[in-house]
Amino acid sequence: MLSSNPNYLRISVTDYCNLNCIYCKSRDYLHLSREEVLSFEEIAEFVRLTTEWGIEKVRITGGEPLIKKDILILLEMLREISALKNLCLTTNGVNLKEFAPSLKKIGIDSVNVSLDTLNPGKFISITGKNELQNVLDGITTARDLGILVKINVVMLKDINDAEIIDFLRFARDNSLILRFIEYMPVGKNFNEEWFLSNILVKNKIEDYIGLLEPYSIFNSESSGPAKYYKNSGLIVGFISARSEPFCSNCNRIRLTIDGKLHSCLFSLSEFNIRNALREGDEQEVRRLFFQTCESKKYVCDGLEDRFIPVSMSRIGG
Ligand code: 5AD
Repeated sequence: MLSSNPNYLRISVTDYCNLNCIYCKSRDYLHLSREEVLSFEEIAEFVRLTTEWGIEKVRITGGEPLIKKDILILLEMLREISALKNLCLTTNGVNLKEFAPSLKKIGIDSVNVSLDTLNPGKFISITGKNELQNVLDGITTARDLGILVKINVVMLKDINDAEIIDFLRFARDNSLILRFIEYMPVGKNFNEEWFLSNILVKNKIEDYIGLLEPYSIFNSESSGPAKYYKNSGLIVGFISARSEPFCSNCNRIRLTIDGKLHSCLFSLSEFNIRNALREGDEQEVRRLFFQTCESKKYVCDGLEDRFIPVSMSRIGG
């Protein structure tokens, strides 16, 4: 059972991506028409409404949000909503170098960069593109501008798990927060053989650098499913959907590009707010929002036997 209403809304602004990661396969595109996709005005209006109903944090995601045309305009519109405490973005980092100054100017609170390898050849085999240097430049540019940058690593067995210690060094040398995300059963390409428990990742880290102490400042309510630890200067987070299910304290809901609310990445029910939003029917939008929150209370604890056949880029990674 969920303890409180969600305060964190993840918004997918596109299902397109400029990478094609082996475990995500974002090219499973929806090919939606312009009419089907929520406009920036509609998204901003929805966010404005939800801040009245408890939403405090919004994360813009995709697909890859930094390839969405005029994304900065949407970010500016959202930043103007004064009741919204926290506005963040998740990106693969390919276009981050170019966008970082504008993100800083707009006042983005943090940027999460998905990066699964530090090896240029492996980067190509995982993502299909030779973009590692661009991503690294994007990360350092954003960090140097004073943007809080977190690195999201999905560890996959026999693919990048030899790099755990390299990532620790990378995070420490570059003053970045590192987060290990457990591979989840999402997408047609899901391959159980790649699954690597975060328990093993954490053990390996502790064998190498010593005990990780829970980091309470970061383990606040708004941190959601991530559990943070500290060891000397290093902050490491673990998002362990499978080895340590967090359904009971998950604080997020998701909005798809075409206006469907999902109470959970693994929930099959969705609540379409698009028509109500377009008709300016605030009561109906409110009803659907709270119905989504309500349905969140009954999702099962853990991902046992659950599998979502569509890619993460559709639901919003
Ligand atoms: N399991 C875990 N994480 C995934 N992501 C995409 N697909 C999966 C999956 N099946 C990650 C991305 C990104 C984050 C938002 O979701 O790498 O860092």
